[in-house]
Amino acid sequence: MRLVALRELNPEMVLARSIFVNGNVYINKGMSGLDKYAERLDRIGIACVYVEDELSEAIEIPENISDETRTKCKDALRDAYSSIRENMAIDVSKIEGPLNALMEDVLANKDVQINLSDINAADDYTFGHSVSTAVYAALIGIDLGYGEVKMKELCLGAILHDAGKMLIDPAILKKEGKLTDDEFKEIRRHPQLTYDILSRCKSLDEDVRLIGLQHHERMDGSGYPNRLRGYNIRAFGRIVAIADVYDALSSDRCYRPRWPNNQILDYLVKHSGKEFDNEMVASLLKRIAVYPTGSQVRLSDGSYGLIVRQNEQMPLRPVVRIFKNPEGRFIPVQQIDLMERLSITITASQLEIQREEQAQRGFTTLKREMWGQQG
Ligand SMILES: [Fe+2]
Repeated sequence: MRLVALRELNPEMVLARSIFVNGNVYINKGMSGLDKYAERLDRIGIACVYVEDELSEAIEIPENISDETRTKCKDALRDAYSSIRENMAIDVSKIEGPLNALMEDVLANKDVQINLSDINAADDYTFGHSVSTAVYAALIGIDLGYGEVKMKELCLGAILHDAGKMLIDPAILKKEGKLTDDEFKEIRRHPQLTYDILSRCKSLDEDVRLIGLQHHERMDGSGYPNRLRGYNIRAFGRIVAIADVYDALSSDRCYRPRWPNNQILDYLVKHSGKEFDNEMVASLLKRIAVYPTGSQVRLSDGSYGLIVRQNEQMPLRPVVRIFKNPEGRFIPVQQIDLMERLSITITASQLEIQREEQAQRGFTTLKREMWGQQG
């Protein structure tokens, strides 16, 4: 199985994973002739899909979180959030079941390097982001050795961390241009609003409520709303701060395109010990695939390859199947383990290669032009 850009689709490739749009199956796994769908997929914001073909033979990509679990979590969250809009308290017990299933999925894959930011570009951002934040928070919690009770609290607070946004004007949240000072101020009310909403749920522990309040605080005091510093921010708040940023940067937003994984990890490392807790960033790094299995990369000798599998503890040095020379022509495949070939490094991820190609072709849809202008 591998991840291919729409432009690379050909009639022989078989869809390896169903494509979901807003929780419903859009194209079923097993379909061929996918090139016919490329235009439609592009229109709904899906940039790449998982396929089986000769080149990707025997490459297995573990499904980290099942689509069923993800959909159930999003549905539960949708219900909870509609209560907020109706000024009713959230029924936390309705979220607990789907959230337990999510934690089970994460725990079942705890040794696998995870990557969520792949094809569900057409996801409803609010719910998808909340679920992914809970997954990344869980990964950090597992690495820190949290037991079941603490894990449940952490995941519950993580999935509800942005609940307060339900009370902010959607026009401000979705605004594509620069925000005014007043609009910024309005958005920055959401941590306190989340805390207030969660305070009405009597069954919730104070530590869970504080995740909402503290997930935008930064250890160097540069965060909001209370400019807390260091360990004055609770451990849960420090974890969800990292999980939130990781997922936000790996998603396309109306004001910027998503960042490649390697750049997000660079960003977290650069700010760890300042904005983010050192140890917690290290925990996440251990569990995230910098170059996901099945994705394309460029190597330092200019050739192109597919990631076949990860080398544990060495996320920058996976096993690669080389299939194109530096000129981009197909060559007989050759598999190398970057742990053994230390002179070779990865110089570009699939997303970076795709963006270079688009720039070369002068490929500019309206949206991409807008992204270009805003950096
Ligand atoms: Fe937030």
